[in-house]
Amino acid sequence: MLQKPRGTRDFLPDEMESRRTVEGRLRDVGRRWGYREVCTPEFEDLELFTMRSGEGIIEEMYVFEDKGGRRMALRPEITAAVIRMYINEAKVAPKPLRWCYFADCFRYERPQKGRYRQFWQFGVELIGADTAMADAEVIMLASEMLDATGVSYELNVGHLALMKNLLCELEPSAQRRVRAHLDKKDFGGLEETLAAMGKPDLADSLVSLVECRTLAEAFAIAGEVPGRVRIEQTLAALDAYGVKYSLNFGIARGLDYYTGMVFEGFASNLGAENQILGGGTYRLAHLFGGDDVASCGFAIGFDRVMVSLGDARTHQETIAGIVCTEEGRIRALEVARAFRSAGIRAEMDLMDRGLGAQLAHASRSSDFAVIIGRREVESGAVTLKNLKTGEQNTLDLPAAIAEVGAHGTR
Ligand code: HAM
Repeated sequence: MLQKPRGTRDFLPDEMESRRTVEGRLRDVGRRWGYREVCTPEFEDLELFTMRSGEGIIEEMYVFEDKGGRRMALRPEITAAVIRMYINEAKVAPKPLRWCYFADCFRYERPQKGRYRQFWQFGVELIGADTAMADAEVIMLASEMLDATGVSYELNVGHLALMKNLLCELEPSAQRRVRAHLDKKDFGGLEETLAAMGKPDLADSLVSLVECRTLAEAFAIAGEVPGRVRIEQTLAALDAYGVKYSLNFGIARGLDYYTGMVFEGFASNLGAENQILGGGTYRLAHLFGGDDVASCGFAIGFDRVMVSLGDARTHQETIAGIVCTEEGRIRALEVARAFRSAGIRAEMDLMDRGLGAQLAHASRSSDFAVIIGRREVESGAVTLKNLKTGEQNTLDLPAAIAEVGAHGTR
């Protein structure tokens, strides 16, 4: 028997309905903040991602050569593609651009719960605004979106300038190695690496920076940084809006394009793969042939949010099972159409079952049975049976539709 590829999943209808419900909540928040949906190709020229997305991601990419000999990659993330699209299609549009997306990404990782080779991100990119308010808006939106999903989470906010200040004497590749240790909170490895680089004293400052939780302490450890006022203004806006977050200047982020504010969300009830959101300010446009445009964005790991929410069905829909005898079939078609026109899910028997077997099936799959036999055909009424309570009444069609419709809103 053929199986699905490793690290991918099939989604049955119950799960898809829950996913669509949560997706709808995210879309709704995005819409209310003015973020409009965009869509980019599933695959791009490999170069788009090798330019700046960081070594980690490059190792994890699905790369292939197409029939024209071009090196392509399935997108491991969407930000680079959105900025490429911005340069191709919308460079001259009035700024800022507020865009969002919901799309699948592909990373060749070792699969485990919450870590897949195909996974979905709900993300936003704010392009062309280079202010404290822009940074703050994106973080506020991140927290409102996570709130809307119903997950319980913690949000950490940091800024790369402080760590960069401490690491400024190291080569870029050495900085990357140090940041990777800090990202994983691997302090033992950090000390070893810095000792080997002849900078053992840096370890203490870096560990204090990672562990400090106030801005004043962070500046005392890392020294003055040029963007201090903007950092203070961003945090003041977050406080004014009531965003719940912790400061964490150890956030290093796995992708290489971030330039300033960085933030990450963690689900409280997940194990190793508990990061459900990541983002920050970045500059990519100039690499792809555009102007040097400041951007800020984040992506929510949609599948991890769904794992965190658990099996609780987020979707409940009232179902009318249309049950009919042979002479009731034509009338049943009209009745089914009337229910569907009223927005109610109505299902007819397709198995040539008798009335009793249809009712037995409806009692397993539906909330109501709408019964149409000879009597109903003659009178124009329907018999409505509530399959949960057993209560049964003969009603005219509009009254039956009203009763089933009211059930869903109770
Ligand atoms: P990222 O942190 O690499 O950032 O991915 C965002 C989120 O995608 C992660 O926090 C995680 O929840 C989820 N994720 C990543 N890999 C997997 C996986 N293998 N399986 C399931 N979920 C996964 C970005 O991709 C940036 N483009 C975010 C961004 C947007 N920055 C600025 N704008």
